[in-house]
This record gives sequence, C-alpha cells and structure tokens, in this order.
Amino acid sequence: MTAAVPEPVPVIVVMGVSGSGKSTVGGLLAERLGVPYAEADDFHPPANIAKMSAGHPLDDSDRAPWLDAIAAWIAERGDRGGVVSCSALRRRYRDRLRASAPGLFFLHLDGSPELIASRLAARMQHFMPSGLLASQFEALEPLEPDEAGAVVPVTGGPQQIADAALAALPGHAGAV
Ligand SMILES: Nc1ncnc2c1ncn2[C@@H]1O[C@H](COP(=O)(O)OP(=O)(O)OP(=O)(O)O)[C@@H](O)[C@H]1O
Ligand SMILES: [Mg+2]
Repeated sequence: MTAAVPEPVPVIVVMGVSGSGKSTVGGLLAERLGVPYAEADDFHPPANIAKMSAGHPLDDSDRAPWLDAIAAWIAERGDRGGVVSCSALRRRYRDRLRASAPGLFFLHLDGSPELIASRLAARMQHFMPSGLLASQFEALEPLEPDEAGAVVPVTGGPQQIADAALAALPGHAGAV
C-alpha cells in the first residue's frame, strides 16, 4: 500500500463589493476547510484606512501596497490552502494576486445593490461608509471565462452560502 500524497489545497479569494458578505462567508469557509483565514482590511496601510474613513475611494496607487501585502500572504500559504477576503473588483487586481499564485481560486459573492445596501445599512461601526457602494458596483469587473473561480449568489443565509461555495470549489474540495 502506498502512502497517499496530500492533495494541494487551493488558496481561495472571497471577492465582491463591500457588504456582499466576504468576511462572514470567508470565515465560515476557512473553518469548514480547516485552513487559515485572512481579512483584506488588515492589510491596508493606515493611510488607506484614513482615506476611506474620510469617505474617499482609494485609487490604484493606494491599492498597490495593499495588494502586494495580500499577495505575499497568499504566496506564503503555497499549496497548504487558505481563505482571504479581498474585494478584487477589477481584473487587474486579480491578475496581481494571481501573479503570486497561479492556482488561485476566486469566489465572487454576488447580490443586487438593493440587498447588499440593506445589509450594509444594518451593519454599524465599520469604516466603509455605505455611500461608497455605488462606486463599488461601478468598479466591479465580473470574473472572465479564463479566470479560475465561481459566482455564488448571496440571497440565502451565511451557512447556505458557505455550502454553495464549498460545492463550487475545484474538485469539490469541501465535499468531505
Ligand atoms: N447571508 C447573509 N444574510 C444576512 N446577513 C448577512 C449575510 N452575509 C453577511 N451578512 C451581514 O451583512 C453585513 C455585511 O457582511 P460582511 O461584513 O461579511 O461583508 P464584507 O463583504 O466583508 O464587507 P466589507 O467589504 O465592507 O468588509 C454584516 O453585517 C453581516 O453580518
Ligand atoms: Mg469584510
């Protein structure tokens, strides 16, 4: 009998606009997969947090050090798996992250502006003012056919969304 070679576990980026449930679902997903979870917000330099708190959207030069730091975490995980929340709204941001890990899998949490606005309105004490939601939807570039990933609707409850996310993973990695 040959010893089983452990399968490489992908790193998953949970993407979507603010309020789509990245932190909620990402945390559940990491728990269910038994891998570490990282929060994109924690990779922002203080200047970015100050800018967002003042109600100003970040530009791409603000985002560069943030994406670099997330990419470093992803690269460090290698094929041991991990889940990281990151809005990753634009293709070029996803390309930056993929450059550090070609097998990266993107899980897009997708919902209507109305549903997500209602969730943001219910959420208090968070640095993202809900007025920035419209600009997030404008910036959103959906996954393209050549990008490894899946779209999961956010209409149900968090556990239901986590179930759908697990089922959408390559090789049904979560179906154990
Ligand atoms: N499926 C759900 N059903 C009901 N409420 C939800 C669901 N998912 C998340 N929420 C709630 O909606 C709000 C937004 O979710 P969350 O903070 O996870 O979004 P996010 O994408 O991480 O946002 P941000 O980009 O601003 O960090 C939270 O108050 C959360 O508790
Ligand atoms: Mg979050």
